[in-house]
Amino acid sequence: MEPITRRVALRLGALGALGVVVGGVGLSRTGLPWAALPAPLRTATRGSETLTEPEVVRSRDGLLRVELVATPRETTIAGRPARVLTYNGTVPGQTWRVRPGDRIEVLLRNELETPTNLHTHGLVVSPRDNGDNPFVSVDPGQSFEYRFDLREDHPTGVFWYHPHRHGTVADQVFGGLYGALIVEGDEVPVSRERVLVVSDITLDRDGALASASTAQVMMGREGDLVLINGQVRPELTARPGERERWRVINACTSRYLHLALPGQVLALLGIDSGHEPAAREVEQVLLAPGNRADLLVTTRGGTSELRSLGYDRGAMGMMMGGGDLSGPAVLATLAVSGDEAAAVGPVPERPADPDLRNRPLDERREIAFTMNMSGGMMGPGRRGMMDLGFDGRPFDADRVDQQVAAGSVEEWTITNPTPMDHPFHLHVWPMQLLETDGEPVSEPTWRDVVNVPANGRVRTLVDFTHHPGRSVYHCHILDHEDAGMMAVVDTR
Ligand code: C2O
Ligand code: CU
Ligand code: CU
Repeated sequence: MEPITRRVALRLGALGALGVVVGGVGLSRTGLPWAALPAPLRTATRGSETLTEPEVVRSRDGLLRVELVATPRETTIAGRPARVLTYNGTVPGQTWRVRPGDRIEVLLRNELETPTNLHTHGLVVSPRDNGDNPFVSVDPGQSFEYRFDLREDHPTGVFWYHPHRHGTVADQVFGGLYGALIVEGDEVPVSRERVLVVSDITLDRDGALASASTAQVMMGREGDLVLINGQVRPELTARPGERERWRVINACTSRYLHLALPGQVLALLGIDSGHEPAAREVEQVLLAPGNRADLLVTTRGGTSELRSLGYDRGAMGMMMGGGDLSGPAVLATLAVSGDEAAAVGPVPERPADPDLRNRPLDERREIAFTMNMSGGMMGPGRRGMMDLGFDGRPFDADRVDQQVAAGSVEEWTITNPTPMDHPFHLHVWPMQLLETDGEPVSEPTWRDVVNVPANGRVRTLVDFTHHPGRSVYHCHILDHEDAGMMAVVDTR
């Protein structure tokens, strides 16, 4: 392991961590309590209230330092009391804003009843040691220090952070643990920028988090309430002729979002860390769980609804029901009125994303999502249970499923012989799409989550030039991930 540097230790010392001890698993841990940041609780969130946004923290002199306390809180959702999970007391957690070349240091403190950890989804950073390491487990009452170093050529765009401790991910994300992470550096003149974190949640009559049934786990649970920044159907206001930049994150545990904003002009700047060469007008945008969109909205007078149009993500047949998964929903309203706004400057041209097709190919592999009837299916309590995994095997943190040579470019074909869609997500190493469901992709198109349709396949190129180490790929229907649809890739 890489020992914690003196510089970091000193900085921590100056901030009040008196003892930095090295834990038994070979990773640095802090042994002393850090005071939880007193964070104001969000008050009433009934339908048609004004949209609020998470507090923003940004890097200074190349460093973003945050204390992140995962803790249950009483709050209000849709005007009703709710007992949810929060980062520093709010849902979503703070928005982090950084730039390429920055360092992010996070002191994560677990005040939950279950183990947790932290993942910086989409960041191209080291998976080792105290980096974006999905094998870390932080027990209740414990803390862990993370450190993420972004290279100078790190892609700009919309990213996010959430827990990634195998076995508790879906419950914790569903419960409210997520936040936005923006890598700046591709500014566009706009009248306003908004961060919209979309999530879903189910609360019982007493405001407690509902747990998922076996059938819901197999299908991927969806919440009764769809939230934007923790609010039900908030209202946004603007003047006509404005240009807004919307950073939208699909933080739902399993729900697909098929976004549309009828009556307004919507243009796509990018998805995940992929950039459109020029803002491209679109009618709708499909975001699988984990995907993000960087959008421009040019406003026109009138009131519009931000909707999810609904998306058929398949079903497991008669056993599971399926039915109205990822059905249509209204997420927010946008009321545009008043005097026409003065025009803002043109959208600058954006540098083209790299094209891996210009690099020699080192290896090809094929990876299949699998859902097999479980041997114990007929046993009591296992009715409807299936074995979820890749290539017929459930996740095993001690097994390496793909051994990759550091520095190589590989072609990965992901097949999905199951009757439902699965969003394929690879940590650390972004994918360039070559073919999605039979259609070739000509422009360089980069994603870290790509939907693989039922009975379909996706062909991608993966760049393993930077950040050797051990990490994972998985289904971003987080119930599937927890149930074993995850595997280990080791680069060295
Ligand atoms: Cu957003 Cu491995 O996850
Ligand atoms: Cu991720
Ligand atoms: Cu899945």
